[in-house]
Amino acid sequence: MRSHYCGLVDETLIDHDVTLCGWADTRRDHGGVIFIDLRDHEGIVQVVIEPDNAPAFATAEQVRYEYCLRVHGKVRNRPASQVNERLHTGRIEVLAEKVEVLNAAAPLPFMLDDAVGEDARLRYRYLDIRRPDMQRKLRMRTRLVSALRHYLDERGFQDIETPILTKATPEGARDYLVPSRVHAGEFFALPQSPQLFKQLLMIAGMDRYYQIARCFRDEDLRADRQPEFTQLDMEFAFVEERDVQDTVEAMIRHVFRQVAAVDLTDPFPRMTYAEAMRRYGSDKPDLRINLELVDIAEKVKHVEFKVFSGPANDAGGRVVALRLPDGAKQPRKYLDDLGLHVSKYGAKGLAWIRIDDIARGREGMTSPIIKFLDDRALQGVLDAVGAQTGDVVFFGAGAYKTVSDFMGALRLKVARDNGLVENAWKPLWVTDFPMFEYDHEARRHVALHHPFTAPKVDDIADLRANAGTAVSRGYDMVLNGNEIGGGSIRIHRPDMQSAVFELLGIGAEEAEAKFGFLLDALKYGAPPHGGIAFGIDRIAALIAGTESIRDVIAFPKTASAQDLMTLAPSTVPEVQLQELHVRVVKPVKG
Ligand code: AMO
Ligand code: AMP
Repeated sequence: MRSHYCGLVDETLIDHDVTLCGWADTRRDHGGVIFIDLRDHEGIVQVVIEPDNAPAFATAEQVRYEYCLRVHGKVRNRPASQVNERLHTGRIEVLAEKVEVLNAAAPLPFMLDDAVGEDARLRYRYLDIRRPDMQRKLRMRTRLVSALRHYLDERGFQDIETPILTKATPEGARDYLVPSRVHAGEFFALPQSPQLFKQLLMIAGMDRYYQIARCFRDEDLRADRQPEFTQLDMEFAFVEERDVQDTVEAMIRHVFRQVAAVDLTDPFPRMTYAEAMRRYGSDKPDLRINLELVDIAEKVKHVEFKVFSGPANDAGGRVVALRLPDGAKQPRKYLDDLGLHVSKYGAKGLAWIRIDDIARGREGMTSPIIKFLDDRALQGVLDAVGAQTGDVVFFGAGAYKTVSDFMGALRLKVARDNGLVENAWKPLWVTDFPMFEYDHEARRHVALHHPFTAPKVDDIADLRANAGTAVSRGYDMVLNGNEIGGGSIRIHRPDMQSAVFELLGIGAEEAEAKFGFLLDALKYGAPPHGGIAFGIDRIAALIAGTESIRDVIAFPKTASAQDLMTLAPSTVPEVQLQELHVRVVKPVKG
């Protein structure tokens, strides 16, 4: 239908005939001459329709916004006054011989270059994707996936598909279930990840596996979480941590160079989970921010102020300070709003000292808590953070995890608000995660990664005796404060796997029912193995420079897990439910 792409026509084609297809981006009437900017995925070209070409002119007069057109014509130089150096096609135009309307367009719900709300964009996603910005993002994603595939294909990784209709694979979210018609009352689960299948492939001797795999998780959605998302899923036989990490680190460096023209540091820095929590209050620290939490329990153990001295004297407590350079220029309201912000992360309060003039001692400071601190404590905390005139110093006190969480969130917030996020790429490995987390509500241990992650200790009795402090062989790759990948060395011995299930409160019977096939497979000479999975959506969003992974997914769901275009999920006819042996219980209206 066409000879060239609109956006690629340039001076090399002067006097050539071209046939172009695309959409009418604009149509302008200029004293009897009509100009149409014709757009395709490569860009825009100016088409001129002169009145002496009566049929073409008549057609062009009917053209409206986003009409789908085919134009045949001759490339010529633009008059000097119309040259646009910013466009690839900016020195030329196409004099139309023939204009065909391939399809008319109804008036659009929004102009493509308008800033429109996300709901409208998602409802008319096919129009949204016509926008050059979305075109760029989705095309970049294609290059990313292609670069990853190419890299792994060349290195002997086998691309193997695993089932979508399967059994629950626990990654810590709820399952999406699919009722079976043939087996009344039974359900498939959509995979939260291909975790168990990739382990089985290692037991099956496939040695190196990867898959661009769709994963399904029914969980609370955020900007970086979708109910279905895409992983680069990988598994390796006969490896230890560094074998996996070094391979995928080189791969990530390679694709960033290729797709984003970014040179990531070599090697990536490494940090234990404990250090990350201590210094940054997060297991995915954003190293672009040069602010650190400082533990000050030692300085405030003796004070009367119980908010501080309580946690300072408690083994499970934490008291930290965070210095915000130049924070004093912020109005009082800003400090109060930060208090509200951290309350979302479980903070009961947020103490602070504003240092207007450090030379004047207490007189030069404003603070709701300074009256509770004696001179020794005050001097101690100010020295600990290196406080200076113009700073605000924030304090968090309470249970270790809560304080780390809310002070970590505060660190991100104040850095963003105050322009303290360096424009850079900061990857790192986080290692030595705790094996288990105690779930106070359920009163039992849960796996911090997933239940197939190996502990650092080989000895089952040792693991049982020290479950609370056990460290796993899990690792995460973090980039600019985002967890872009997570993996581990797996358990490959059936006795260890059974012991870990037991520590997680999964009894022998339940383990057999849910994971009997894995426990069986581990008995037949399972090799040591490990792997990792990367969040493709998150990596693409980072490269695209967007906050939300929805921007790099063609047809994403909203934060309430709905597709605004197809309006899925939706009800189904009663007969279909009957076939599936399902009855819907209508929520009781109260
Ligand atoms: P994990 O659960 O850490 O590990 O997932 C791996 C990576 O997938 C991305 N990710 C998500 N992206 C978008 N939306 C979501 N809801 C979502 N959840 C996770 C993250 C994360 O780092 N089977 C293990 C991997 C392994 O052990 O090899 C797993 O799925 O970037
Ligand atoms: P209160 O004694 O609750 O009135 O708190 C006195 C000051 O300490 C206020 O500025 C609170 O914001 C702050 N504060 C209270 N609880 C905490 C906490 N857990 N961590 C940090 N500051 C707190």
